[in-house]
Amino acid sequence: MKTVGALLWEPGTHSGWSVEEIELDPPKRGEVMVKLTSSGICHSDDHLDTGDIPLPWAPVLGGHEGAGVVTEVGPEVHDVQEGDHVVLSFLPSCGKCQMCVSGRANMCVLGAGVLAGYAPDGTHRIHARGKGVGAMSYLGTFAPYVTVPVDAVVKIDEEIPLMPASLIGCGVPTGWGSAVYAAEIQLNDTVVVFGTGGVGMNAVQGARLRGAKNIVTVDPVAFKREKAEEFGATHSVASFEEAGPLVEQMTDGQGADRVIITVDVARGEIVEQANQLTRRGGVIVLTAAAPVMQRDVQFDLFSFAMSGKRLQGSLYGTTNSRNDIPLIADLYKSGRLKLDELITRTYRLEDINQAFADLREGKNIRGVIVYDD
Ligand SMILES: NC(=O)c1ccc[n+]([C@@H]2O[C@H](COP(=O)([O-])OP(=O)(O)OC[C@H]3O[C@@H](n4cnc5c(N)ncnc54)[C@H](O)[C@@H]3O)[C@@H](O)[C@H]2O)c1
Ligand SMILES: [Zn+2]
Ligand SMILES: [Zn+2]
Repeated sequence: MKTVGALLWEPGTHSGWSVEEIELDPPKRGEVMVKLTSSGICHSDDHLDTGDIPLPWAPVLGGHEGAGVVTEVGPEVHDVQEGDHVVLSFLPSCGKCQMCVSGRANMCVLGAGVLAGYAPDGTHRIHARGKGVGAMSYLGTFAPYVTVPVDAVVKIDEEIPLMPASLIGCGVPTGWGSAVYAAEIQLNDTVVVFGTGGVGMNAVQGARLRGAKNIVTVDPVAFKREKAEEFGATHSVASFEEAGPLVEQMTDGQGADRVIITVDVARGEIVEQANQLTRRGGVIVLTAAAPVMQRDVQFDLFSFAMSGKRLQGSLYGTTNSRNDIPLIADLYKSGRLKLDELITRTYRLEDINQAFADLREGKNIRGVIVYDD
């Protein structure tokens, strides 16, 4: 079918997104077509434009945080049917590989191909200007319709409004899970969250749900600091320099139990700062994406080992999509997790470059592209 999508023809060149006609194929075996309600604007898509996440292929249809209604199912699809409400998961889970069956679905073998530029069977579902188009995360939610693997689709309760539900495709589980699973926050912990955008704000919510005593957020943008307190931060400061004395004073000089890094672009310096704020035996969680060639972190390795700290990487908040997407939807439904409040502004697809400009300027917790009914 003919539809429209936002593409990068030259990823990594700050060219911005081109909104143009695309041809979308119907679902093949094990795939479904979904009519999207909305798509969140996650910083990971901006990394494609800046080159922090380099793509050796082009063009790419961006977007990996969406929800909508299934309009067509391909052969051998048994889990969902037409009319089902679904969240698209930015990492698929096959449910059969060793990682999936051992409860580590964020490490599913299919995940290795999400930036390969093809559907899992090695062909394209999207075409533009006579060329095959790769989709971000097998999804490409910067288009009102998508054809995606059923392994990347999770059915949710129809009572959950689809616009806030779209954020459960990436930012919410990534941040929430970074706090709940990757950091393993314990009751009464002191937690620091660096960067409270669309991902970090959910780390704050996760910390609150786990019963953290102090939740200190660090963000240079005043609006983010204000909002962080609405999401559960007990203290919000503008910089590492301000966080240091505050954490020291609230922990009798011991340091924070957990420090979570959800800034826009991770660099060695921020990991060093997080390490300095972390107590002996504490955990540092690195969720933010660094430029791919970033290699340098200065650590006093002797002290790091002898103080028994842990530096934990976190992909998708270490969540299991089939368990955690419905779980998060339920937390929202019962009023224990905020989703609507994450959405600062909505945009039409034509205005996507404005949405990314606003992301870079720190104007939104999450900007969301909304599609017509
Ligand atoms: N690991 C994963 O699975 C995963 C999934 C999704 C996103 N991400 C990554 O997480 C990061 C955050 O994404 P997002 O969509 O929330 O971005 P965002 O732009 O919405 O939020 C980033 C926040 O960091 C703040 N910030 C910048 N420099 C800072 C500093 N030095 N100290 C404190 N705060 C600072 C910004 O003001 C902003 O509020 C990105 O790198 C993104 O690619 C990782
Ligand atoms: Zn994302
Ligand atoms: Zn798997």
